[in-house]
Amino acid sequence: MPDFPEHIQKLQPYVPGLAINALASELGISPDDIVKVASNENPLGPSVLAKMALAETPPEIALYPDNDSVELTAAIATFHNVPPEWIVVGSGSEAVLSMAAVSLLTHGRQTVYSQYSFQAFAGAAQRVGATAVVVPSSDFRVDLDGLLGKINEHTALVYIANPGNPTGTFIENEEIEGFLRHVPKNVVVLLDEAYYEYLPEHERSRSVEWVRDYPNLLLTRTFSKAYGLAGLRVGYGIAQPNVADMLRRVRAPFSVTRMAQIAAAAALNDTEFLAKTAEFNATGLTYLYESFDKLGLEYIRSHANFVLVKVGDGVQMSQHLNRRGVIVRPLKSYGLTEWIRISVGTPSENEQVIAALGKELA
Ligand SMILES: Cc1ncc(COP(=O)(O)O)c(C=O)c1O
Repeated sequence: MPDFPEHIQKLQPYVPGLAINALASELGISPDDIVKVASNENPLGPSVLAKMALAETPPEIALYPDNDSVELTAAIATFHNVPPEWIVVGSGSEAVLSMAAVSLLTHGRQTVYSQYSFQAFAGAAQRVGATAVVVPSSDFRVDLDGLLGKINEHTALVYIANPGNPTGTFIENEEIEGFLRHVPKNVVVLLDEAYYEYLPEHERSRSVEWVRDYPNLLLTRTFSKAYGLAGLRVGYGIAQPNVADMLRRVRAPFSVTRMAQIAAAAALNDTEFLAKTAEFNATGLTYLYESFDKLGLEYIRSHANFVLVKVGDGVQMSQHLNRRGVIVRPLKSYGLTEWIRISVGTPSENEQVIAALGKELA
């Protein structure tokens, strides 16, 4: 018998949301008739600038991509007004979360994060055999004092997502700044801002400025959500060079494809598309809240592009919605058995989701 270490044997395989094609063939309907609101993707599709850049680019798929994503790195650095050495591009921001774990954690070291945090935090820690200290959350919020209280001499990494997934809750700028001031300088704080672009201007954090002040801060952003490039797998981290350099050392070679680099560089400055995305999202959230109110459903107000809603048996409700051609995300794996997460879709998708939910509750 191959002798896999215990921490690997204990890993659970990642369970992605149901695929559109799989459900379509099960129901015997066209994939176009399926509404997938399970993975917080952009219902508007990709940025037009990204599509144009891809269309103009010869595929060149026989060649390896640029390992260091030099042009994309330069574009991101300019965008944030930081040196290129501060940027680490990865195949999705999940890859950067993982690089942080690989470079900082090992047996005997600890990471600290909140209950109801994005599952990739747990996965990244488990894969390297580190201990995860999970701080209870009340009201689905991150208890920053609770996180601080759990940091000890074994702690190397703290994960925080803001806004959080699957909660959609938000931590104010002042609270995070206060937290950063108290974290020991040898502990890296990874602040995952995958949903940053959905925040209204007044809620957007000064996180890039904080990276200047805190050499132990690592920010992550992604092109998978508001930029609409989830299928290409590209995201990045921003940190001072000491941290960024270590992450680059553990990054899998050539892991960001050339098409991903080109599309991301083009999408980066598509402010018009980002504004439209945020506006659509805000309107969609309002519609979902009003509809949940009418249906008498409890929900958590969200700062991202999805919403948590309490429906009774979440797994069963998801299965019933599947039969109506709607794919949502049950949250049993987060210990939230009574809740489902619904991503904001197009207006017509949102209506279909609410119609299906209404029929199931009738
Ligand atoms: C909080 C959070 N961080 C990171 C990610 C990872 O996104 P990606 O790897 O596509 O950049 C997600 C995706 O759902 C997320 O919800």
